[in-house]
Amino acid sequence: MDMFHIEGPVRLSGAVRINGSKNASLPIMAATILAAGKSTLKAVPNLSDIFVCGRLLGRLGCKVTRSRNGDLSIDSTVIDNPVGEYEIVRMMRAGICILGPLLARCGRAEVSMPGGCAIGDRPVDIHLRGLRELGAQIHLKNGYIVAQTPHGLKGKDVFMGGPFGSTVLGTANVLMAATLAKGKTIIESAACEPEIVDLANCLNKMGAKITGIGSPRLIVEGVKQLQPAEFEVIPDRIEAGTFMVAAAITEGELRLTNCRLDDMMAVVDKLRNIGVTVDAANNGCVVARSGPIKPSDITTQPYPGFPTDLQAQFMALFSLAEGNSVIIEKIFPDRFMHVAELNRMAANLRKEGSTVIVAGVKKLIAAPVMASDLRASAALVLAGLAADGTTVVNRVYHIDRGYEKIEERLNPVGAKIRRESA
Ligand code: EPU
Repeated sequence: MDMFHIEGPVRLSGAVRINGSKNASLPIMAATILAAGKSTLKAVPNLSDIFVCGRLLGRLGCKVTRSRNGDLSIDSTVIDNPVGEYEIVRMMRAGICILGPLLARCGRAEVSMPGGCAIGDRPVDIHLRGLRELGAQIHLKNGYIVAQTPHGLKGKDVFMGGPFGSTVLGTANVLMAATLAKGKTIIESAACEPEIVDLANCLNKMGAKITGIGSPRLIVEGVKQLQPAEFEVIPDRIEAGTFMVAAAITEGELRLTNCRLDDMMAVVDKLRNIGVTVDAANNGCVVARSGPIKPSDITTQPYPGFPTDLQAQFMALFSLAEGNSVIIEKIFPDRFMHVAELNRMAANLRKEGSTVIVAGVKKLIAAPVMASDLRASAALVLAGLAADGTTVVNRVYHIDRGYEKIEERLNPVGAKIRRESA
């Protein structure tokens, strides 16, 4: 297992280009199942989660190749094994989003039931409820979701709300299935995340008839078949937010290109409120901080609210604020594995249920810490950039799932991160 040695404190300065979105790419890769033939996806990042998703599609029968220019081709002419194996889905929960497309394409599917993970229980009951509404018969057998559509999929009004609001991948699953269902489907309380907008745009390019895109009410007129397409995924708003925090926490200045501020209003608003400058610039923005960090509060919410995927990174930033901040996690109430690790770096964090009180400290102090999940590890790297001394982050494979060689992106702009391969 690789580890990072991060020397701090540093001040970042320079330009970083934001990569394509992981969380947009994964369901879009699954969407290629819906159309027999070869689809070409552009700007899909080179990450371990993407590689695992490619393997998952490969086991179904698809041919997945990365060309020299970085394009990802998925040839789904043949799908002869509609099974999402435990060995793969346990590594990447997003594997669940092959269920809807497989049902629509093959009329049957078996996908391993995802278990919990470091950020919480993560049930899939709403995915299954939605697919059942469209006519799927589903039962659980030996840890697998076994689904079939003996009478085909039929359009219907489907309510997708749950105790924590809408579900992103649940919406993706039902939306993909509905494109090939007979008749009209209305998905109420659909997720409005930019990644769902991107998926819907891709599906329409493949010949689907989806309207209401970006709203909580998606309307899908089922079509007989979809065609393979060429599609470029959107930039990663969570990667962009992480680099924004990197500029802010190091009192530096970063120019981010290929970054869509329109997808990040809640994040940009919060940064500006705490004393960080975010100026729109050609195809991106310039993020800088020169004064103190003002304390603030964050409540994570479904889009367009503040994203849970940036909660940990902002906790690292608030640790250095001049006063007390409050962070309330309303999407994954247990997503706090980073709290104890940040406290090892001399942060002053107190967790009360799904709330964390962050008492600002003057400085963070380097320590050996353990990465537990993707975004928690990003928070530790950010803290390491600002902390006095050499922070050692263990288990960086968590980071590699969502950030492409983060040390090679941060070092050219002033970070001192060394990867030690085990
Ligand atoms: N939920 C249910 N039942 C369901 C599905 C979800 O109760 O059937 C609950 C969840 O437990 C959670 C809430 O609904 O409390 C929202 O979960 P959601 O289904 O939206 O999460 P997801 O689709 O599994 C995606 C991202 C996550 C991101 C969440 C929330 C991908 C591959 N994953 O997960 O990204 O945190 O949406 O925005 O798109 C990450 O990139 O680090 C990551 C974890």
